[in-house]
Amino acid sequence: MTARVAVVGLGKIGLPLAVQMAGKGVRVRGADVSQAVVDLVSGGRAPFSGEPGLAERLGEAVQSGLLTATTDTTAAVAESEIVVVVVPLLTDAAGQPDYRAVDAATACVAAGLRAGSLVSYETTLPVHATRQRFGPALAAGSRLRPGLDFRLCHSPERVSSGTIFADLRRYPKLVGGIDACSGECAARFYESVLDFDERPDLPRPNGVWDLGSAEAAELTKLAETTYRDVNIALANEFGCFAAAAGIDIYQVIAAANSQPFSHLHRPGISVGGHCIPVYPRLYLAGDPGARLPAVARQINDTMPARAVRMLAELTGGLAGLRVAVLGAAYRSGVKETACSGVFAVVRELARRGARPMVHDPLYSAAELRGLRLLPYRIGAPCDAVIVHTDHPEYNLLAPADLPGVRALVDGRAVTDPGRWGAIPRRVIGQPAGNASPHRPPDRPTAGDAAAGPAPADNQTPADGHAPPDRQTPADGQALAGEGTRAGHPG
Ligand SMILES: NC(=O)c1ccc[n+]([C@@H]2O[C@H](COP(=O)([O-])OP(=O)(O)OC[C@H]3O[C@@H](n4cnc5c(N)ncnc54)[C@H](O)[C@@H]3O)[C@@H](O)[C@H]2O)c1
Repeated sequence: MTARVAVVGLGKIGLPLAVQMAGKGVRVRGADVSQAVVDLVSGGRAPFSGEPGLAERLGEAVQSGLLTATTDTTAAVAESEIVVVVVPLLTDAAGQPDYRAVDAATACVAAGLRAGSLVSYETTLPVHATRQRFGPALAAGSRLRPGLDFRLCHSPERVSSGTIFADLRRYPKLVGGIDACSGECAARFYESVLDFDERPDLPRPNGVWDLGSAEAAELTKLAETTYRDVNIALANEFGCFAAAAGIDIYQVIAAANSQPFSHLHRPGISVGGHCIPVYPRLYLAGDPGARLPAVARQINDTMPARAVRMLAELTGGLAGLRVAVLGAAYRSGVKETACSGVFAVVRELARRGARPMVHDPLYSAAELRGLRLLPYRIGAPCDAVIVHTDHPEYNLLAPADLPGVRALVDGRAVTDPGRWGAIPRRVIGQPAGNASPHRPPDRPTAGDAAAGPAPADNQTPADGHAPPDRQTPADGQALAGEGTRAGHPG
């Protein structure tokens, strides 16, 4: 493979990708708008931690001369035959796709694009965006014709931060071109830069799978991720009902999933990150009449406020209480707060008059302050605790670690009940110690997520359910809450 590659966006996904390609002997120009990122990468240093293998592989790639970095995307593209775009596409406060970064990257790509090149968008996109938005934008900026003068495809990135190099081998690489030639060109490229594990469980050999169209590739990524959000929303509904009925939902899920057609996920205090809370909205951008993804988002968005309400019930009110929120990252082991539920938890605590403080083993006090969170140190006095992130450090926590604590809400079912003794403790999805088996479910409701007076506890189940007709986009936005706001970059 002699083609040169430009990777546009050297973030948590783009940088490992660039390193993977350079490791296969390909000359890679990494482009990023951040001078700090470019300086670090040029020096062989990763701008972030937590990606196993990245530091060593990056050092090797830079030392070999195969990976270089620049802030000049247009120049990088002009020197390359393959262009991989992997900059963020989040949603705005109204829940609509915020194309600013990817549009800006596209304009720079277009300005440097050469005839005969392949442009592959790996950023997760609404269906039709590759062909209908970026095809014309590239054409306008380059005066080249998509499909005729250059190849264009979507190849969604399906890896997760923290396991990227393993995931690149583990999952089939999906491609879909705007025409057959673009798809074939993309398949040849990715086959040359990726290796794949044997996967006898798959219906066809693991490797590059050409789905035949950019739209099929776009929808596949949105489908597999929206499925997860809807599944979690269902687990949250079941969890609310089970807790009220005196049933442990985790036991139920384990039992249900022993049958091969049940794949229930777990309930929890929030759904965060760049992906799962965002992609259902990218899906809805293409199919605004769809109901289930919109309702699932609504349900999952209400969970942080619901957890705070559970705490208020335990303490008899939150005004003036020092509440330690454990975990800022959206999930364990990943130093990432994009769309993390911690922000909604903190806001709701503050709205109820509490003094929220945040601890995270992956973040220094200065970093937490930089996120506008008041740092908390394990061992410092507090009145109550909410576990937000399933960091393993929290499994063994005991009241002695949190002097003064008089109530715990565990949003991830990670704390050890044996260690909490007589301290009032509630776990999302598990019955309260004194739960009546016939209590009506304390469901997540739209009111939970709304700013305004504290929600009453007797809201009807209908509050949390889909309206009978298909929702308009405006309905979906109104229900959307804060889970996908772009204001909390990682
Ligand atoms: N993070 C994940 O786990 C994950 C998983 C699968 C897919 N993805 C996809 O990858 C995309 C990027 O995610 P990430 O985690 O790498 O994001 P990130 O925030 O870690 O990195 C994005 C990088 O792009 C750069 N950038 C922004 N605008 C740019 C522009 N116009 N030109 C050049 N560079 C620009 C930023 O400076 C940053 O370094 C996501 O939006 C998503 O579509 C992410």
